[in-house]
Formats: sequence, structure tokens, C-alpha cells
Amino acid sequence: MKILVKSIAFLSLIVTSHAAVAACNMDVEVGDALTFSVTQMTVEKSCGNVTINLKHTGKLASSVMGHNWVLTKDTDANDVASKGLAAGLANNYVAAGDARVLAATKIIGGGESTSVSFSTEALTAGGKYIYVCTFPGHSFVMRGTLNVGA
Ligand code: CU
Repeated sequence: MKILVKSIAFLSLIVTSHAAVAACNMDVEVGDALTFSVTQMTVEKSCGNVTINLKHTGKLASSVMGHNWVLTKDTDANDVASKGLAAGLANNYVAAGDARVLAATKIIGGGESTSVSFSTEALTAGGKYIYVCTFPGHSFVMRGTLNVGA
């Protein structure tokens, strides 16, 4: 009986830690086309902190085919992207001090990787969030949905 209890405790530990990794730390790949490898992501508010790892598997430079990952509420995405254009590459196409930007990586080019960590405090469970690439001309096609669970 003692052994059975121990193995159940061990199993639930494995399941719990696996779920936490899947939901709180995620990999997204981009390349020399206008697509994210993942267009639906789910994070749990209970993560506390979420990390997005962005990897550019293409060959083109950041000035030609740069990509970033910028999270906003769904209703803010288009305006955040258009304000970001004016900010330029030096600012990673994200307007300084734009409070509607919930998380953003820098712009990366082929062969580069970056990541961003952000608190889930500002996210509402069940809320609608979109991530876009704000590189000029990319945001209308290069986007995905972030779902927030409890
Ligand atoms: Cu892009």
C-alpha cells in the first residue's frame, strides 16, 4: 500500500510539471516567409510568468525579413502595429511606451534567436489576445491567437 501511494504521488508530480512546461514556456519559429510556426497558443494565468522563445530559421537579414513577437489585446493589434512602423527598426518596430504592448521581443533575422518573459498578471482568463510581427507589411498575415486559461 505504501508503495502504491508513493507511485501515485510520483506520477502526479510528473504530470503537473509537464503541463507547466508546455503552458508557460513555448517555442515559436519564423523563417524567410511571413508565418509563425504556431498560430494558436494557450497559457495559464497560474503560470505567473510566461517565456516565449523565438527562433528565426531563415537566412535573410533582420533589415530584409526581420520578425518579432508582439502581444496585445485583439482590439489593439492593428493600431499597435501601425504605430510600431513609425518607431523603425532601431526600436524593433514597437512604439516606445505603448502600454497596449503586453510583451514584445526584439526584431531578429536569419539564424538568430531571442526570448521574452512576461507576467500573466495583465492577462485575463478567457480574454482575447493576438500576437503579431510588427515588421513593415507583416502584421496582417503574420499573427496568431493567444488563449488564456485559468
Ligand atoms: Cu515578420
